[in-house]
Amino acid sequence: MAESMRGLHRSHRCTEVSSANIGEIVTVMGWVQKRRNLGSLIFIDLRDRSGILQLVFNEETVGKEGYEKAESLRSEYVIAVTGKVEKRSAAVNENLKTGDIEVIAEDIRILSESETPPFQIEENSQTKDEIRLKYRYLDLRRPDIQKNLMLRSKVAYLMRDFMMKEGFLEIETPMLCKSTPEGARDYLVPSRVHPGHFYALPQSPQLYKQLLMCSGYDRYFQIARCFRDEDLRADRQPEFTQADMELSFVDVDDVLEVNERLLKYVFKEAIGVDIQLPLPRMPWQEAMDRYGSDKPDTRFGMELHDVSDIVKGCGFSVFTGAIENGGSVRGINAEGQAAMPRKKIDKLVEFAKGYGAKGLAYLAVNEDGTYKSSFAKFMTEEELAALVAAMGAKPGDLLFFAADKNKIVWNVLGALRLELAKDLELLDENQYNFLWVTEFPLLEWSDEENRFMAMHHPFTMPMEEDWDQIDSNPGAVRAKAYDIVLNGTELGGGSVRIHQDDIQEKMFEVLGFTKERAHEQFGFLLDAFKYGVPPHAGLAYGLDRMVMHMVHADSIRDVIAFPKVKDASCLMTQAPGTVDEKQLEELFIKATEVE
Ligand code: AMO
Ligand code: AMP
Repeated sequence: MAESMRGLHRSHRCTEVSSANIGEIVTVMGWVQKRRNLGSLIFIDLRDRSGILQLVFNEETVGKEGYEKAESLRSEYVIAVTGKVEKRSAAVNENLKTGDIEVIAEDIRILSESETPPFQIEENSQTKDEIRLKYRYLDLRRPDIQKNLMLRSKVAYLMRDFMMKEGFLEIETPMLCKSTPEGARDYLVPSRVHPGHFYALPQSPQLYKQLLMCSGYDRYFQIARCFRDEDLRADRQPEFTQADMELSFVDVDDVLEVNERLLKYVFKEAIGVDIQLPLPRMPWQEAMDRYGSDKPDTRFGMELHDVSDIVKGCGFSVFTGAIENGGSVRGINAEGQAAMPRKKIDKLVEFAKGYGAKGLAYLAVNEDGTYKSSFAKFMTEEELAALVAAMGAKPGDLLFFAADKNKIVWNVLGALRLELAKDLELLDENQYNFLWVTEFPLLEWSDEENRFMAMHHPFTMPMEEDWDQIDSNPGAVRAKAYDIVLNGTELGGGSVRIHQDDIQEKMFEVLGFTKERAHEQFGFLLDAFKYGVPPHAGLAYGLDRMVMHMVHADSIRDVIAFPKVKDASCLMTQAPGTVDEKQLEELFIKATEVE
């Protein structure tokens, strides 16, 4: 039977009790982790979000009724216990913060009983994800998840703290917005008052924060919820949180500078990691050439080498064909891996195909100087020697080559490089390699849409020195855009924005917008820009991703209280769900049900 806590006050969280309290009477409340009966003694491990405290029950101090209550306790019962803190009678438990003390119970109340939970509440649970997420309220009791969410709270606090001190204002922007195309798919909200009209949930506060700059709030900050209807991955959720900012009267260096100090502060205060400033910077082109990725993990080498010049006249048509088609041949060197079994190499070839490769050529330099290779027979000894030299390979090394359009070659080798690093355990999770990737291309060709798309978004400022190529060679124009990368993850990104209407209009033209469409969609922004707009720039972090890295989680799900699964549903609430016919009628919506 559940008792009330009338007259009781919790004096400490479990691990706030320490040897400094020996001899004092304390009142603690929490969940029963474990009960052990030992002759005439009952030991209870009491758990709250701070950790575990050992309680001891014996009939002399807690009375017969109290002892019987203690005997009835089972996992996850919620209890309140008052008792005296004493030095542990048995051996000290080094694994517990409170391992040198115990509380000798004098009074116990059972505040709530519990059914047997579907899984044990414990750290590093092996329980299947589906079960964990269905009972997320229980999963959230696990100490590791609780630690994650406590750290997340702290990180948000530290960011606010830093931003306030730097003169940023926290301003909330709407959740019910106008649908903006470009970027991911919107989540739509039907309007009851305007039949057939829809709001969109924000993909980011981008346009609003630019308007705030127009309105003179020169430094804005917000921890903002964002919504994107895109395919989920380990580091993507349909709703996620950005730490978002925008600054007026600044250029690239100003934004990077304040953000470097922000990162240094937050990582030091949150997890004690020292970041050396300034952070390294790398232009996008260099990142692609060296790492095959715009978010390179620089904790290890295995860089890409362009060997197109070396192999362009060789006898291997896979290589020469790719170059003739405007592509390239590039390779990576898995040092010391020449003895890799054929089976494993075949697996890597399949892996590469998953990233769009037609194949993956390999060449192992045996210790005796001979080769084991999928293409050596198509090349002369001299050609092979030149290739091996260009790759910097020594006996014992294993080389992989991809030949295709640059984009595919980068994609394949970038992914292969990471896969090999994981496999060969080259990644040190306690190393934090930050990197600014800068000078992104302004535009990206879309085969699907058969037009250029904005690589970041349509408001990103081109680099002045490239602007004269906007008509002749739009793909070559670089942007004042930057990403902050941590160990191969894009933590955040931003750009300097266009504040001149002639550039903005040209940009819309290149993106294939008619004047009318640009005005229909972004009219409010373009109008606002007519009334005096300061040069401005900004950046947004994925807060979930940042915390995920801090706790070394594999997925942002582990740092979000109530995440969605891969198909964007919530296993606990069963959202999304159907609604009453009446609700739909009010919204002038008819669902054409699809099984
Ligand atoms: P961007 O689209 O690059 O930029 O987003 C900024 C950061 O948000 C995080 N992020 C996500 N995290 C979890 N799940 C997702 N689905 C998801 N999508 C993005 C990433 C990313 O780096 N308005 C611009 C910023 C600016 O220009 O100021 C923007 O939204 O960590
Ligand atoms: P094939 O002549 O098709 O048997 O290919 C010979 C070798 O080249 C095999 O190891 C293939 O995996 C590899 N290969 C095929 N296409 C490519 C490509 N586009 N890039 C790199 N290697 C390739």
